[in-house]
Amino acid sequence: MTDFNRGAQNDPVGHDGHRAGGSTEPHKPVKRWTSAVARPRRLRATESLRRLTRETRLSVDQLVYPLFVAPGDGHARPIDAMPGQFVHSVDQVGGEARRVADLGIPAVLLFGRTESKDPQGREASSPTGEVQRAVAAIKDTVPELTVVTDVCLCAYTDHGHCGIVVQGAINNDRSVARIVDVALSHADAGADLVAPSDMLDGRVGASRTARDTAGHVNVGILAYAAKYASAFYGPFREAADSAPEFGDRRSYQLDPSNGREAIREVELDVAEGADIVMVKPALLNLDVVARVRETVTVPVAAYSVSGEYAAIKAAAARGWIDERMAALEAFTSIVRAGAQIVVTYYAPDIAVWLQEDKAQA
Ligand code: PBG
Repeated sequence: MTDFNRGAQNDPVGHDGHRAGGSTEPHKPVKRWTSAVARPRRLRATESLRRLTRETRLSVDQLVYPLFVAPGDGHARPIDAMPGQFVHSVDQVGGEARRVADLGIPAVLLFGRTESKDPQGREASSPTGEVQRAVAAIKDTVPELTVVTDVCLCAYTDHGHCGIVVQGAINNDRSVARIVDVALSHADAGADLVAPSDMLDGRVGASRTARDTAGHVNVGILAYAAKYASAFYGPFREAADSAPEFGDRRSYQLDPSNGREAIREVELDVAEGADIVMVKPALLNLDVVARVRETVTVPVAAYSVSGEYAAIKAAAARGWIDERMAALEAFTSIVRAGAQIVVTYYAPDIAVWLQEDKAQA
């Protein structure tokens, strides 16, 4: 392979004016415009130097893979707006979890879908719901895999909101009571971490207290602490069938204009007992990831959401972007910004790509 950064033998970065890539022109001295002491390109000259001086190191250990479960048997249905992603029936999810664990990915994040919706989202806390049964199935098949469950009502309410609607508005405290029930049912089913994604006030503290009372002291909370009201959740809502029937989520999710408010949300969740805090969407909010990383000492996660995945996929499918390079660059940026944990639909691909890169190095 040609390394275009390599210049003449004695001047690998082409500082003397030679064209990088090995010019055949006779040596012509050129005026030096750059001071001899500041030549950062020196360390970019070869792949081994670049490896040596790399600041951000990627590992499969940083990845969490989202999995969707739906009623039925024997199916893995493709999600149109998320090429390469599937909604699984519970009997299939153990096998999928095995595949993920065999790639070295340490955790999955489970989302449920249902056919029985009502205003309270009752099915969300059913002990025989898809998520609850999927947790058990995964724990049966791959006990060592960490299972995180998304705790929300939006896929289970007939109006598609993340809480209980009273007179056209989301009632915070009634919603929190339901969200606590859902979190408890996931803990009962064997989840390692529950991840409340509703952005209502006080749900982390309420879940922590309820779980401790119920004896689930070791079930942790991965809080969607800074979750923005984003257009980039569109493809996900097709997968989870969770689009709101009226209005939008701006009365509970963060306004994309606000950064300081994200820090306030994160600090509240940590004070209420969150074990890990998450920023979402990741790529659009790298500044927030960096600020959160500086503010708290708990692990920081970032979720590269469905629309971010779909955007790369769609451009790649048209030949407008190199998928592997784009997806790895996106992952690198999220880790560089300060996330220790990255939730991404690209997790299995990234796991394979990192293995390939290691084999080549
Ligand atoms: C549920 C939830 C959503 C996502 C994760 N949990 C959708 C939403 O808030 O509307 C989005 C994930 C993605 O887009 O990949 N509240």
